Amino acid sequence: MIQTGAAAALHVAVIIGSTREGRVGDSVGRWLMARIRRRAEIEPTTIDLADFEFPFHYPCEPTEQMLDLTARIGVAEAFVIVTPVYNRSFPASLKQAIDYAYDEWRAKPVGIVAYGYRSEGLYAMEHLRTVFGELHTAMMRSNVSIDLLDGGFEETHRSRDAEGLGLQVESLLDQLTWWGLALRDGRAARPYVS
Ligand SMILES: Cc1cc2nc3c(=O)[nH]c(=O)nc-3n(C[C@H](O)[C@H](O)[C@H](O)COP(=O)(O)O)c2cc1C
Repeated sequence: MIQTGAAAALHVAVIIGSTREGRVGDSVGRWLMARIRRRAEIEPTTIDLADFEFPFHYPCEPTEQMLDLTARIGVAEAFVIVTPVYNRSFPASLKQAIDYAYDEWRAKPVGIVAYGYRSEGLYAMEHLRTVFGELHTAMMRSNVSIDLLDGGFEETHRSRDAEGLGLQVESLLDQLTWWGLALRDGRAARPYVS
């Protein structure tokens, strides 16, 4: 855990990217939030995309729900994206939400918790790195990858929580906090360039 001195707690938004009925994503999100809450230096919030009803067709004027989402992204200082892999990428629900914001993402750090079958979500992770590069975010070197074929998520995190997965989460949160505080100072010191 890194030392943050007297800095105010970092506002971290955990974004649950899958909205599928019967999804695993909400369980992964709850598990992650429980770990994040152990850290006094982070003030976490969950943005669950299943709570929104976005239009299928991108409207000329943003809807209230689109504005609500972008406002919540705007106040956050760092993000953890919880995503499954769907056909070697991340789900459409997540891409739709990412695309509603632009300036709100800039000069902020992003970490990823990805899951899937054997691929451990790595394809979704790599595609997200590309997308978030376009949005001027700082991507964390360490992320969390979960193989659901180790007996499903409940069994996976019960058996590996104490070692592998837990260490991955702590490493991600250390980096996210460092970058989050550094970029908070950076944004306050000078406007970000485009
Ligand atoms: C449409 C779809 C495509 C998928 N494609 C892959 C895939 O390419 N690779 C993989 O490892 N798992 C794949 N999976 C398995 C999902 O990662 C797994 O079912 C996971 O639980 C989905 O996340 P969710 O439950 O939060 O929706 C796919 C699942 C769905 C529904």
